[in-house]
Amino acid sequence: MIRTSSKVVATCVVATFLWVSAAMAGEVEVLHWWTSGGEAAAVGVLKDMLKKEGHDWKDFAVSGGAGANAMTALKSRAVSGNPPTAAQVKGPQIQQWAEMGVLANLDDVAKANNWDKLVPPQVAKIMKYDGHWVAVPVNVHKINWMWCNPEVFRKAKAKIPTTWDEFVVSSDKIKKAGFIPVAFGGQNWQEATAFESIVVGVGGVDFYVNTLVKADPKAIDSDTMVKAFETLRTVKKYTDKNAPGRDWNLATSMVIKGQAAMQFMGDWAKGEFTAAGQSPGVDYVAVPVPGTSNSYLFNVDSFIMFKVKDKAAQEAQKTMARLILSPEFQTVFNLNKGSIPVRFGIDRTKFDDVAHRSMSEFEATASDGSLQPSMAHEMAVYPAVRGAMFDVITNFYNSDMSAKEAAKKLAAAVKEAETE
Ligand code: GAL
Repeated sequence: MIRTSSKVVATCVVATFLWVSAAMAGEVEVLHWWTSGGEAAAVGVLKDMLKKEGHDWKDFAVSGGAGANAMTALKSRAVSGNPPTAAQVKGPQIQQWAEMGVLANLDDVAKANNWDKLVPPQVAKIMKYDGHWVAVPVNVHKINWMWCNPEVFRKAKAKIPTTWDEFVVSSDKIKKAGFIPVAFGGQNWQEATAFESIVVGVGGVDFYVNTLVKADPKAIDSDTMVKAFETLRTVKKYTDKNAPGRDWNLATSMVIKGQAAMQFMGDWAKGEFTAAGQSPGVDYVAVPVPGTSNSYLFNVDSFIMFKVKDKAAQEAQKTMARLILSPEFQTVFNLNKGSIPVRFGIDRTKFDDVAHRSMSEFEATASDGSLQPSMAHEMAVYPAVRGAMFDVITNFYNSDMSAKEAAKKLAAAVKEAETE
């Protein structure tokens, strides 16, 4: 008798639960630019987890590395009064969207899930506007990596370089042996990605901060900046003639296939090696860009949620926000993406040596001040300044402008962008 009634109660409870979750099943339309092999595998984890919770994922993927196309698409949707419910937006741009008053406040999810304790303060600062959580951090990418094919180096009898002088010696040998020394994609953000690593490698952390974070024209118009531009030109010398316009993941695949020896790229490149079934230390080697072994240029991906009226959609947004910082998502997503978890308390054992190195360096550089935001990946300066920097870097890279002139132009462009 008692058994029967508890069964009835249980059935009713399950039925009620199903009804509630079906009633609250909402949809999130998610704008992102994760379309390469590794990126798609990583974002697929979030899609699946959200679906498991009973919500729908409407994919709004806009391809194009580093998200310039995605941001254009986002602006046009927002201008027409119809933004997606969630969007991949980073760094100072989060503040700009929040200032417009269009972002959902995520404080209750943050409170219920203890984000203030779990997220490092340097990252939390970027995600909050006026003290309120308006964005969810996803991961931490390190920019100043050099991805190498050890087999190509062996065949060319060349050493994996740790200095720019060694880089020239090794690149000459690699070229002679019939390989492409540097796999490169000639797109402005890829040029800027290589350039910012060169700036920290050539000038050190303080110089990087003064020039690409504080954007001080005096520091920019200097001999050290001239040297940085000259080094960028040296790198270009070792790229192939098909580099212009090439997507970053195609450049990574040249290293994977053994056509090229190295690529300067953030660790989303690792996602491509993983997707191709390759292992670090065996099929590929990841080392710091020459001269940058003591610095860490960081890039944190994040999502903002736009205000919506529909209760079920609000529920879906909150679920997505909660899932992103859950241990399961942080582990599986970052294993696919090549980045490291953005929150404390994640078991490291599933991660490989490259991730372990990044985790240790993230902690070490956070305490000694050499953890610095990436300019190229929207962490350091407002879009207008970043755009001005991109223009000069790409004009220099794609012309015969002298390094001296480039340093002068960069200083002038930054000055102008700041007064706009
Ligand atoms: C970065 C982004 C990464 C990666 C890369 C290439 O800006 O933070 O997640 O995907 O662009 O698209």
